[in-house]
Amino acid sequence: MLGRLNHVAIAVPDLAAATATYRDTLGAKVTEPQALPEHGVTVVFIDTGNTKIELLEPLGENSPIAAFLDKNPSGGMHHVCYEVDDILAARDRLKAAGARVLGDGNPKIGAHGKPVLFLHPKDFCGTLVELEQA
Ligand code: CO
Repeated sequence: MLGRLNHVAIAVPDLAAATATYRDTLGAKVTEPQALPEHGVTVVFIDTGNTKIELLEPLGENSPIAAFLDKNPSGGMHHVCYEVDDILAARDRLKAAGARVLGDGNPKIGAHGKPVLFLHPKDFCGTLVELEQA
């Protein structure tokens, strides 16, 4: 079921500063910021060749990463995203195994225009897991 690592996401308090760190200090190629109001974040992607880094900044009132940044004010690793071939089949298999799917359990369209789901970190070794249909 589990496919390749699509990205590792890092929550940051200041997206412009984080983007500059990756672009200028690390010499990375960065995308333009993309606002995702439905997800409560603005994102920048960094292509590292074998995978991507997703920088996340809170957007709007009830951003799902606001509490994380309260606990980690300078930012931190927020989630890992794995690709799956069939997100509904993956969800049903995980739910049958007792894993908790966040939100209403239905995929939302993510930053790449593809369906995504998030899985409870307590069910996956303390790490928030995103699944994206490849
Ligand atoms: Co992500």
